[in-house]
Amino acid sequence: MTHEKAVRTLVRDLSGHVGRAVTVSGWIATLRVHARVAFVVLRDGTGVVQGVLARSELADEVWELATSLAQESCVALTGVVRADARAPGGHELAVSAVELIGASDEFPIQPKEHGVEFLLDHRHLWLRSSMQRAGLKVRAEVEQAIHDFFYERDFVRIDTPILTGAIGESAGTLFETDYFGERAFLAQTGQLYVECACPAFRKVYCFGPTFRAEKSKTRRHLTEFWMIEPEVAFADSNDNMDLQEEFICHVVERALDRCQAELEVLERDTGMLESVRPPFPRISYSEVVDRLNAEAAGAADAPDATGAPGAAGAPDAPRRFEWGRDLGAVEETTISSWFDRPVFVYNYPKGAKAFYMKENPDDPRTVLCNDLLAPEGYGEIIGGSQREDDPDRLLRRIREEELPEEAYEWYVDLRRYGTFPHSGFGLGLERTVGWITGRPHIRELVPFPRLINRLKP
Ligand code: 4AD
Ligand code: MG
Repeated sequence: MTHEKAVRTLVRDLSGHVGRAVTVSGWIATLRVHARVAFVVLRDGTGVVQGVLARSELADEVWELATSLAQESCVALTGVVRADARAPGGHELAVSAVELIGASDEFPIQPKEHGVEFLLDHRHLWLRSSMQRAGLKVRAEVEQAIHDFFYERDFVRIDTPILTGAIGESAGTLFETDYFGERAFLAQTGQLYVECACPAFRKVYCFGPTFRAEKSKTRRHLTEFWMIEPEVAFADSNDNMDLQEEFICHVVERALDRCQAELEVLERDTGMLESVRPPFPRISYSEVVDRLNAEAAGAADAPDATGAPGAAGAPDAPRRFEWGRDLGAVEETTISSWFDRPVFVYNYPKGAKAFYMKENPDDPRTVLCNDLLAPEGYGEIIGGSQREDDPDRLLRRIREEELPEEAYEWYVDLRRYGTFPHSGFGLGLERTVGWITGRPHIRELVPFPRLINRLKP
């Protein structure tokens, strides 16, 4: 057999070439050399295949080249495809020729333990490892599922600006930049803009990078993250939660359907994902506070091991949660432990939420909004609300929050020219993929994470 006749193919397609000579190109994952035989594992982006090299059947220079290949060298391997049930992917290659395309000298990431800071410093190379590939593949599938979901439901995609003059969420976490002498910010949200596109298209969404100068070093915070934000005319807060529920079920189902191999690499317990079915529990913020405090009181009253009453007031006794405070990661984890699927917490106190949320007519201390908390302690993955549609009330909130009124004139205009009830939400992509993949830190679910202490690579 001559290798001129070999067809170029992908590892994924080897099953269609059994018994024939092919050429596959990719990168060397591992190489094991014995006296008479060597095994090379090649990764081509569509799969991995093991090449077998028999010393007795190869010219000396081919054997020499093959057995000196370093980890992550880029090569083309030519050989006959053999079906082999034990091989990864079910096939192996009886290699007859090797072409070195790009040498690799001492690849920094070795098949051993490395510290995470080292790996993040080498993120440009770390992307090639199996766990990272699996996580990013799930991310890409989830992104596609998101677009499909909204496209199939007649939403029009609106691309919103990244450079903006208006504060979207909170003044405390803005990245500021100089825009030809004017103050500009990196967008914290596309929401205010998709709201304006509602009267044009009725149902719209944006999906893009958003920025928060959060000084949080937690496993759930990035300074640059991707957010999907739908906005629907004539939808109230309950309709909004219905849409979120349908949306989350769609995304999780898609991951379970198309990412089995990746979830296996990530050792994800998919049983937890299979219970993600409607309806999701809905519990108001005030009910949550009562329940948190009842639990804390119960824990304080419970007798300890000596039979003495619990030590209320002892330094580690759970403290009362005060109505009005925003829920933090600790409370969110407790709340999600009450349920086996995502849970809606709705109608938070006004003071804990953004200026644009509509006042709750039944309890004006609160606003018509919701967070969606993921199970297993992954915390808030969605924040949503019905929007204030009255221009005067909206202006009052802008003033109360001491936001620069003139920067929001256009946003208030939406309420001056044919105002309408509308609602929407924002889903954080990395937090969602972090939960679906079961990874401990969301920084692995974005190709190049931006963290408070990391801008490179
Ligand atoms: O709750 P947030 O701040 O809501 C908004 O931005 C609204 N404008 C959305 C809307 O109604 N259109 O953020 C929405 C989601 C959060 O639930 C969380 O998943 C994610 O964005 N998120 C972050 N993800 C990673 N790192 C951060 N620093 C994040 N901040 C928010
Ligand atoms: Mg939020």
